[in-house]
Amino acid sequence: MKLDRRQFMAGAAALAVWPKTGGAANAPRIIEARAGTARVVPGDYPETEIWGYDGGVPGPLIRARQGETVSRKLVNALPQPTAIHWHGLRVPNGMDGVPGLTQEAVPPGGAFLYELPLKDAGTYWYHSHNQSTEQVARGLYGAIIVDEAEPPEVDHDITVLLDDWRLTGQAQISEDFGAMHDWTHAGRMGNFVHARLLPSPSEVLRNQRLRLRLVNVATDRIMAVSLNGLEGRLVARDGMPVEQPQPFDMLVFGPAERADLIVDVTAGPGEAAQILLQQRDGAYVLAELPVTGQGASVPRGAIQALPPNPVPALGDLSQARAVALRMEGGAMGGLRQGTYMGRLLSARELVDEGQIWTFNGAAGLPEDPLASLSHGEVLRIPMRNDTVFPHAMHLHGTHFREVLPDGGLGPLRDTILVNPDETREIAFVADNPGDWLLHCHMLSHQAAGMKTWIRVT
Ligand code: C2O
Ligand code: CU
Repeated sequence: MKLDRRQFMAGAAALAVWPKTGGAANAPRIIEARAGTARVVPGDYPETEIWGYDGGVPGPLIRARQGETVSRKLVNALPQPTAIHWHGLRVPNGMDGVPGLTQEAVPPGGAFLYELPLKDAGTYWYHSHNQSTEQVARGLYGAIIVDEAEPPEVDHDITVLLDDWRLTGQAQISEDFGAMHDWTHAGRMGNFVHARLLPSPSEVLRNQRLRLRLVNVATDRIMAVSLNGLEGRLVARDGMPVEQPQPFDMLVFGPAERADLIVDVTAGPGEAAQILLQQRDGAYVLAELPVTGQGASVPRGAIQALPPNPVPALGDLSQARAVALRMEGGAMGGLRQGTYMGRLLSARELVDEGQIWTFNGAAGLPEDPLASLSHGEVLRIPMRNDTVFPHAMHLHGTHFREVLPDGGLGPLRDTILVNPDETREIAFVADNPGDWLLHCHMLSHQAAGMKTWIRVT
C-alpha cells in the first residue's frame, strides 16, 4: 500500500499507541482544497495557477462500486471558506455540501467529513458549492465514477471533462470573477475550451469499443458535442441509464450535464478519433485519439442497456401536486422589481445587491421553500423561462423526469436546459428527506439570484 505524506504521518502518530494495522486503515482519506499549478494550455505557455482538489485540476478521479460508501475528509487550505457538492449523487442531506442550507461553509484551516453511500452507478462529479463562480472557475472540481456490479465490457473507459477557461495571454486565470456583464448575460464565457481525458490512452485501435463519460464542468458554457471516427449509442444521461441505448449525432450539454456513450472506433489506422465542439462558426477539436492499428474485426455485440438504478417510479401523475416556477430577469429581461432577503426591491436596488434574476419574483435563496413535501409525495414543477437566455436547471438530492407535452416521460435527469420562452415540466418522488437546492447551474446566474429550495420531511 502506498501512503501519501499526510496519511503516513497520521499512521506514524497512531503507531505509538496502536499495533501496526490500527489507525490509518480506517482513517478517512483526505481531499485537500488548495492552490497549485497545472498544465492547462499545452505547448510553450506557462503552467496555470489554479485552485484544485489535492492541488490539481481536475481533482482526483474518485472511483468506487455501487453499494459502497466513499468517505473523504475535506481539508480547506484555501484563503476562502468552501464546501464540496457531489453533483447527482443521491446522498443524505447533511452530505450535500451546500453552505447556508445543508452545512456551514468550511473555513480556511477547517475540515469536514463527507460520507457518501453510493446508491446509484454512473458518472457523477464534485465541485465547490461556495463562491462557486470563482472557486469552480479556478479549478475546484473532479469526477466521481460509480461502477456497476458488472460494467459493460469495453477496451477503454474514459472520463471526458469538458471545460471552459478564461485565461490571460500568459495562460493565467482571468480574475474578473463576478463581472456584471457576465452575470446579466450568458455567464462567464472562457476563451479556451478543452476536453481532459481521464485516462488518456496513448493509442486506440480500429474496432475497439470505448465508454466515454462526458461531463460539462464549465461554469456557464453550453457545449454542443459530436464525434468523428467513433460510432455508437448514448447509454446514460446525468448518471442514469436510459431504457434503450440511443443513436445520437450531436449532444448538447448545459453546465453540469453528463452523458455516457458506448462507441466503437471506426477511424482507421493513421487517422484519429475525435471529440468535437460544434460552434456556430465551425467545429473545434476538443480531444483526439490517434488510431495506431487494426483491432480484431470480430463483430462486437449490440450495445446493451445499462442496468437501471434504484430510483422510485413516479406512478400516477394526475393526482400529483404542481408548483410552478417562473424565471425572470437578466439583460433585456425588463425586470422591474423582486424580493431579496425578505424586502421588495426595485430593479436598480437589486442590481446594487448583485441580484439580476428571479424565480417567482424572488432573487437569492428565499426564506421559505418553493414546496414542502412529505416523504413519498410526487411534485411536478412546470418551469417557465421568461428571460432571453437559456438556463440549466438543477435539482439536488434526487433525479427527476421531464413530463413531455404529450404526457410521456423523459429519461431521469438531474439538470435540464430550459430555453427562452420555453416551459419544461419536471416531476419527481420526494424520497430523500432534507432541504434541497433547485438552481440554475450557470453559476453566474445562480450567484445573481437563480436559486430556491425544496423541503422534504
Ligand atoms: Cu452541481 Cu448545486 O450543483
Ligand atoms: Cu441560468
